[in-house]
Amino acid sequence: MAWSATLRLVALAGLLAQDASAQTGSARGSDFLRFGCSQLVIERTDPLVNPGMAPSPHMHQIVGGDSFNITMDPMTIDPPKQSRCTSCKMSEDFSNYWTASIYFRSPENGTFKRVPQMANGRLNGTLLEQEGGITVYYMQPFSGRNKKVTVMKPGFRMLTGDPTLRTKPAGSMKVCHRCLAKNERIMGGNGAPCDSGDTSEFPSKPCPGGIRATVIFPSCWDGKNLDSPDHKSHVAYQPGSALAGDQCPSTHPVRIPQVMYEIMYDTSGFADPKYYKNGQPLVYSFGDPTGHGQHGDYLFGWEDGALQRAMDALGTNCFSETCPVLKLQSPEKEIACTKAQQAKENIGTDQCSCNF
Ligand SMILES: *[C@@H]1O[C@H](CO)[C@@H](O)[C@H](O)[C@H]1NC(C)=O
Ligand SMILES: *[C@@H]1O[C@H](CO)[C@@H](O)[C@H](O)[C@H]1NC(C)=O
Ligand SMILES: *[C@@H]1O[C@H](CO)[C@@H](O)[C@H](O)[C@H]1NC(C)=O
Repeated sequence: MAWSATLRLVALAGLLAQDASAQTGSARGSDFLRFGCSQLVIERTDPLVNPGMAPSPHMHQIVGGDSFNITMDPMTIDPPKQSRCTSCKMSEDFSNYWTASIYFRSPENGTFKRVPQMANGRLNGTLLEQEGGITVYYMQPFSGRNKKVTVMKPGFRMLTGDPTLRTKPAGSMKVCHRCLAKNERIMGGNGAPCDSGDTSEFPSKPCPGGIRATVIFPSCWDGKNLDSPDHKSHVAYQPGSALAGDQCPSTHPVRIPQVMYEIMYDTSGFADPKYYKNGQPLVYSFGDPTGHGQHGDYLFGWEDGALQRAMDALGTNCFSETCPVLKLQSPEKEIACTKAQQAKENIGTDQCSCNF
């Protein structure tokens, strides 16, 4: 990897906490928008894969606009119009972002506990998503001269990762886990997303500082379809790399902002080495004890023009969480945006709403 690209990746991972404006030339790292979204609701619904189902097969942690619903037909729902609030820092963003919950299965007695989420404390606490939400990135291409991206259209949605996977997929990792030491709990650890320190599977050792899961979405779109039957075929990764450069395949020529999630799971209460004697004890809510099946769902819901405005300003007037071309709301307002469960269920830590 080229030197400047390496630096960019390093910066992306938050290792270089200094302001992007202090960096120079091609080594400038902050060609991305990044913000925290606090929890909207934890429930078994999935308007993308299982529209209309309550409960859907497995538990999700959902953030974003409160127009989130069991069914979100793009013909009838317009998140910016129908939401009253968003749990995201950027108040023009009513998109929805969701991922699966993790459970600890006690090797001693077989009972389950939901692993709580925790805040992502990057950049000295500017990403303190309370109630443990999701950190969302919108990134420009990492290499290449043409960094312009075209923002997705209303109604756009996509999924990445595959809940049926139980072995490591070929190619560069799109979904991964980082095991955090105690002293990495706040900053989330060093290194680029899904680098060699991360694993496709669950970490095999205790993670007293938590687990940071990363989900990297495709950055190329066919330019026509807002969705596809598998929720994947209308988008593609740049061949050869999950973190994109500027070369989209001819089948998917439109370069969209690359969406990435970071989800912090608080495994500090499950880090006793005795739980790891016969293999790691964690399992995803969709019944995956390997971790390879982790996935993320995305439903576009920005107000007209707002995201394009931010993407066009990246590198000049918009750096990670500092983006004056967007409207930001207070942490109090962000946290106050929650939604009652529609699929009513105990999400306490004493049971597993898993599909085994
Ligand atoms: C969900 O959608 C239904 C049907 O369109 C609607 O009646 C209901 O108000 C929505 N619920 C919430 C909580 O948004
Ligand atoms: C099962 O074991 C876990 C620790 O492995 C413990 O926290 C929990 O209280 C136990 N539950 C029961 C019902 O014994
Ligand atoms: C983090 O922010 C606090 C409060 O603004 C400040 O006192 C502290 O020095 C900062 N720490 C670092 C490492 O920048």
